[in-house]
Amino acid sequence: SDFFAKKRNLTGKTILVTAGPTIEPIDPVRYISNFSSGKMGYAIAAELKERGAEVILVTGKTALTPPDGVQTVDVVTAEQMFRAATKAFDRCDAAVMCAAVADYTPQAVADTKIKKEGSAWNIALQPTRDIAAAIGAVKGTRLVAGFALETDHERANAQSKLERKNMDFIVLNSLQDDGAGFGGNTNKITILRRDGSETVFGLKSKTEVAADIVDEIEAFWAPKNA
Ligand code: CTP
Ligand code: CA
Repeated sequence: SDFFAKKRNLTGKTILVTAGPTIEPIDPVRYISNFSSGKMGYAIAAELKERGAEVILVTGKTALTPPDGVQTVDVVTAEQMFRAATKAFDRCDAAVMCAAVADYTPQAVADTKIKKEGSAWNIALQPTRDIAAAIGAVKGTRLVAGFALETDHERANAQSKLERKNMDFIVLNSLQDDGAGFGGNTNKITILRRDGSETVFGLKSKTEVAADIVDEIEAFWAPKNA
């Protein structure tokens, strides 16, 4: 056996990971989306798999190759991700919500390409469904973790998200420091827990951050009085 192999402490657990951006079509050639690369979610999926979990990765469109051995469900829109994720969660022990889900989607998708008219163009949008909140509402004793990216009142906003979505912990992504956030290969995170406690981590690669987050998941299931 490999001396360097990770302890497979998550054997027997099935874990849902959502990752990447959603794409909300406007017409056959245009859409609304965001800059999520999917790197953080894919790194978490890979780490969970290496520690023995069965992983279901519900992913928006990314440039990444899914980690080996991970069951992947490809989706495009927020509504498709909602359906795939809530369905998959039925057979999961935990969910890690890493996706950058569009908060709004066009009220109607045009069948044909919309022509330019030269004047201002307003696109009517309607809210999408909150996947994390829906999963949090039915989770029972299962674990739900999510992410928050805030520009102001970071802790207060993240803590209220954690409560609103009934999460067990939330990973606050700091935009404060160079190299953290969307697109890059590093992140600086703070884990905020249900009981109000928190752990602040230094600037690390997304692979190292994934290991810290998966440690937190393992701790959730570890015997508390050992
Ligand atoms: N999330 C989700 N479904 C949505 C919106 C968000 O599952 N429709 C999840 C994200 O994957 C993340 C968490 O909820 O884990 C927080 O996402 P965020 O966009 O920061 O929160 P919102 O509730 O959408 O609030 P806002 O964008 O207004 O800050
Ligand atoms: Ca949002």
